[in-house]
Amino acid sequence: MTTATRGAEVRLTGLGISYERGEDILEGIDLTVRHGEFVAFVGPSGGGKTTLLRLVAGLLAPTRGTVTINDRSPAEARAGTAVVFQDPTLLPWRTAAANVALGPELSGASARDRLRIAAERLALVGLADAADKYPHELSGGMRMRVSVARALAGSPRLLLMDEPFGALDELTRQRLDAELLRLRDANGWTALFVTHSAAEAVFLADRVVVLGGRPGQIVGEVAVALNAPRDDSTRESEAYFEAVREVSRLLRQRGKDDGR
Ligand SMILES: Nc1ncnc2c1ncn2[C@@H]1O[C@H](COP(=O)(O)OP(=O)(O)O)[C@@H](O)[C@H]1O
Ligand SMILES: [Mg+2]
Repeated sequence: MTTATRGAEVRLTGLGISYERGEDILEGIDLTVRHGEFVAFVGPSGGGKTTLLRLVAGLLAPTRGTVTINDRSPAEARAGTAVVFQDPTLLPWRTAAANVALGPELSGASARDRLRIAAERLALVGLADAADKYPHELSGGMRMRVSVARALAGSPRLLLMDEPFGALDELTRQRLDAELLRLRDANGWTALFVTHSAAEAVFLADRVVVLGGRPGQIVGEVAVALNAPRDDSTRESEAYFEAVREVSRLLRQRGKDDGR
């Protein structure tokens, strides 16, 4: 890891939110994500995972408590934060390169810099040859890679990912997960990654945080100590299975308590 201290630190303190006078969605979330740490969040559908990411992205304001990113507000840290949603949301009339270059273009980068950034980031995700292709000419996995390249265009310190590979087939997802870890090792950003898969969470994360209950709270954490670098052999290891079992157990336990 070349720049392990480059990733942002995220601190959630007594965090809670309700949407416009509705029921509480999240309550009493206390969590510190360390510089360069990769934290995966799992929990039931409708449990507030997307809401949590939107709070950290500064797209929503908390009802209670605070979110800080390197001791600043999410709005102040916006330039260093990138978000990848489940839907790649590429602009269909722009090539892959032009989609990746959108952020730099909006922030006034020169045409030369935009080209360079787009080429570099596409190469990072293994799509150097697809720069001139339009989204409809790409597979689902390739579109998701472009989406990740676009998120990396601004050299973020914090990457927020909301079930980014959830719609892809298992094999493609496993490939992208492994690529994502390589990118993290090379770039050192901090990651908050939401998934409904205990196996994906364990493969990716330094720590898995399990959300549950109504309102949503942190019901448990599993620290994941696996040999680095993680690759296909990781998925065969006893430590990996044990961590997946532990995450699944926490999810099930909580599901019973909730009556879900
Ligand atoms: N904009 C919104 N307005 C009102 N309620 C919302 C809004 N977004 C999400 N919710 C509600 O908040 C709860 C948590 O949603 P969400 O954060 O999307 O959960 P998850 O991502 O874990 O599936 C759900 O009950 C959902 O209906
Ligand atoms: Mg969601």
